[in-house]
Amino acid sequence: MPITLLENKRIVLAVTGSIASYKAVDLASKLTQAGAKIDVIMTDAAREFVTPLTFQSVTGRPVYTDLWQADSSGGLPTHIAHVGLGEGADLLVIAPATAQTIAKLAGGFADNLLTVTALAARCPVVIAPAMDGGMYTHPATQANLKTLQERGVILIEPEEGRFASGLVGKGRLPETAALIGHIRSILGRTGALAGRKVVITAGGTSEAIDPVRYITNRSSGKQGYALAQAAVDAGADVTLISAAKGLPTPFGAHLILVESAADMLKAVLEYSQNADALIMAAAVADFRPETIASQKIKKSDDGAGLTLTLGRTADILMEVKAQRQQIGFPRICVGFAAESENLLTNARSKLERKGLDLLVANDISASDAGFAVDTNRVTILEPDGGQQALPLASKSQISEAILARVSDLLGDA
Ligand code: CTP
Repeated sequence: MPITLLENKRIVLAVTGSIASYKAVDLASKLTQAGAKIDVIMTDAAREFVTPLTFQSVTGRPVYTDLWQADSSGGLPTHIAHVGLGEGADLLVIAPATAQTIAKLAGGFADNLLTVTALAARCPVVIAPAMDGGMYTHPATQANLKTLQERGVILIEPEEGRFASGLVGKGRLPETAALIGHIRSILGRTGALAGRKVVITAGGTSEAIDPVRYITNRSSGKQGYALAQAAVDAGADVTLISAAKGLPTPFGAHLILVESAADMLKAVLEYSQNADALIMAAAVADFRPETIASQKIKKSDDGAGLTLTLGRTADILMEVKAQRQQIGFPRICVGFAAESENLLTNARSKLERKGLDLLVANDISASDAGFAVDTNRVTILEPDGGQQALPLASKSQISEAILARVSDLLGDA
C-alpha cells in the first residue's frame, strides 16, 4: 500500500548477518510497495543468510555488497558508492544489526561498505539490533549502543521472545509493521505539524446496561486511527483517545482507551487543554441507559421483555466549545458529521452549533464510504461557507487532506 510519507524517500537498508536477515527482505519489500526507494547494503555475513538477488528482486534496485568491486547491475560506481549512498539518503536503517556491526560502528571502524557508509551518512541513522541469548544485554553491547545513541543514532529496541537457538530473552528483531512505524515517526519529525499537539478521538463509545451488556454503534474507528497515523507522519505529538478495540496503534501515538461517552468527555477535556487541534472522529453515543444495573439483568419466566430508559450523554464538542471560550484551547476544533440524509444542510448546522473550524461530513448511506470500510467520501465544510468535496479516497488520503487544512489554519502561530 502506498504511504505518502514514504513516497520517493531514499532509504539505505543495511543488512548484517543474523537469522533475522530474512525479516529484512520483508521490510525492503513493504517499504518498496509503500513507494520508497530502497538501496540495500549487505555485509558478507548477511550473504550467508540471504542472497543479494532476493533484495534486488523485491526492491528492483541494485544491491551493494562490496567496498572494492564495481557493481555489475548498474549501481553507483564503487569508489563513490559509500558517499553517494549515505549522502543522498533520507535515512540509513541498519536492520538487523549484529553485535559485531554495532561494536564496529561504536568504534568508528571503516572496514566494509556498511561501516564506511555509516561514517559518511549525513541523514539520521537507525539501528535495529538482533542477536541471540545474552549478547544484547551484555555490558559490551550495551556500552556500544549507549555510545551510538549519544552520537544521535536512533535505537529500535529488540523484542523479548524465543530465539532460533531455543533460548528466550531480549534480542528479537521487531516485526515489519513495528519497524515501519518507527521509520515513519522518524521521517515525519520535520513534517507540517512538527511541534503541534493533536488530540484525536476514534471509535464508537459503548454505554453499559449491566456488567455484561452494553449499547454501541457501528463505528470501526478506522478513520480516527488513520488520522492519528497521518498526524504522526506529519510530525505531530498525537494523543489518540479511542473507544475502538483491536486496531493497531500508530507507532508514536499516545493511546488512551475509553469506553463510555462520559469517559471520553473526561479524557478529551483533559488532553485538549493545551492542544493545538482536537479532531473528534469518534461516534459518541447520544443516549445511555439511565441506570446501570450492578448485577446481570435476568430474564423472567413469564416471557416479559425489558424496557430500557435511555438518558442523554453529554455532547463532547459542546463542552469543548465552552472550554475554548474560557481558556482558548484546543486552538482548532474539527468535527465529523455522519448523516444518512440531507448531508450538507445537517452538517452545516452542526458546524455552527458546535462552533467548529472544520466539519467533515460523510454520507453513511453509501456502501463504499463511512463505517467499517477502508474508503470514505467526505465534504469538508468551513465556517465562512467554504466547502471542499473530496473524491472517494482511502481513509489515509482523507486524513492527509484534513490535516493539511488543520495545518493551514494553525498557520505560523
Ligand atoms: N459528538 C460529540 N458528543 C456527542 C455526540 C457527537 O462530541 N455526544 C461529536 C462527534 O464526535 C462528531 C460530531 O459531534 O464530531 C457530530 O456527531 P454526530 O453523531 O454526527 O452528530 P450529533 O451531534 O450526535 O447529532 P445527531 O445525532 O442528531 O445527528
